[in-house]
Amino acid sequence: MAKAVDIGTSFIVGAQIKDGKEIFTAERDAFFSMEREDFAEEMLDDAGAKYLIRGNQIFVVGEDALKYCMITGKQEAYRRPMSQGVLNPGEEEAIPLIELLVEGIIGKPAFKGEVVAATIPAAPLDTNIDVTFHKIVLERFLKNLGYDVRILNEALAIIYAENPVVTEENGTTAPFSGVGISFGAGMTNLVVAWRAKKLFEISVARGGDWIDQSVSKVRNVPVGKVTHEKERNLDLGNVDPRNALQLGLEIYYEELIRHVLKEFNEHFKSTQTTFTNPMEVVIAGGTSSVPGFIEKFKAVLEDEGSPIPIGSVRMGKDPLRTVAKGALVAAVSMEKKKQKAEGAAPKAEAPKPAAKPAPAAKPSEGPASVEANV
Ligand SMILES: Nc1ncnc2c1ncn2[C@@H]1O[C@H](COP(=O)(O)OP(=O)(O)OP(=O)(O)O)[C@@H](O)[C@H]1O
Ligand SMILES: [Mg+2]
Repeated sequence: MAKAVDIGTSFIVGAQIKDGKEIFTAERDAFFSMEREDFAEEMLDDAGAKYLIRGNQIFVVGEDALKYCMITGKQEAYRRPMSQGVLNPGEEEAIPLIELLVEGIIGKPAFKGEVVAATIPAAPLDTNIDVTFHKIVLERFLKNLGYDVRILNEALAIIYAENPVVTEENGTTAPFSGVGISFGAGMTNLVVAWRAKKLFEISVARGGDWIDQSVSKVRNVPVGKVTHEKERNLDLGNVDPRNALQLGLEIYYEELIRHVLKEFNEHFKSTQTTFTNPMEVVIAGGTSSVPGFIEKFKAVLEDEGSPIPIGSVRMGKDPLRTVAKGALVAAVSMEKKKQKAEGAAPKAEAPKPAAKPAPAAKPSEGPASVEANV
């Protein structure tokens, strides 16, 4: 049975199939560092917390890290292994901690060579962040655990999960074709796919963190308070103009969407690709889960235009899990392919795409199930 892991700046989400059902496990991509004192380990064991010991330090990882931070109020001890979509260059413990988190979520392979699909971002256009180091560190780690590792772009995973379809002039349909956009914490990734193949990809090093930090700066309010307001009270369709935090959030949400669409317009031009039939846009990621996001996106799209004809714009079914779900679709497909090539009976059971089922492809159209291009 194949597995998937979406390694994000804010959350790591694992996906696998158990008894024919997709099971998701999410963990906060964070840790809390503290001095190693007498009994600390026993207390953590009793509390069932995940931790790592390095010399004189104990690192509590995942959701428990946030709890420790809230209880102690020690903001400086709350650290994040990732920043802007990749391993945090300013965090020396980033690698062992992310490895602990990832292994905690997906565990060891059920059999040697089990396929795992892991997501990465595209290289961002607006900073000089290099994604190669991040990609290779994670790929090697998963390989060392015994997995057969496949790496895929996180926005392409949205296409696999949601199966947008393009209808052509002669009435035939092209499955797994559309625009996928993942609005995460550290980054926003955009992919244009055609029949499950990635034709174009971009990313910008802006997402929910950038919104929170920008509002925090202009309103001189701690970032945590801004994040809280955003996640609990913000409705982009109903912003109280006297609430300065909400107003700030709305302004930076709009700026983020505008920035992504401007980069899309700018860079798609340089490709030789032309689409004449409208494509569906499917959006996912935590940042897009705020109420009113789709309407805001459509309004900015109307303003900025798009380099390809756009039909509808819709949200992935479960925006915080869509990427992991799509990666699982890819992993299962690859495991089946592998087993077929090896002449073995298929062990994997494919999850169904969340959205409307792919219209039956005509024989000449190619496979209706995803032929993962990773
Ligand atoms: N209900 C909500 N309303 C608004 N924002 C939310 C909500 N829930 C989560 N978020 C934001 O979503 C972001 C996390 O989203 P997600 O888990 O998709 O990111 P990630 O995959 O960890 O990051 P990345 O893909 O950029 O590496 C955070 O910025 C968080 O504040
Ligand atoms: Mg993500």
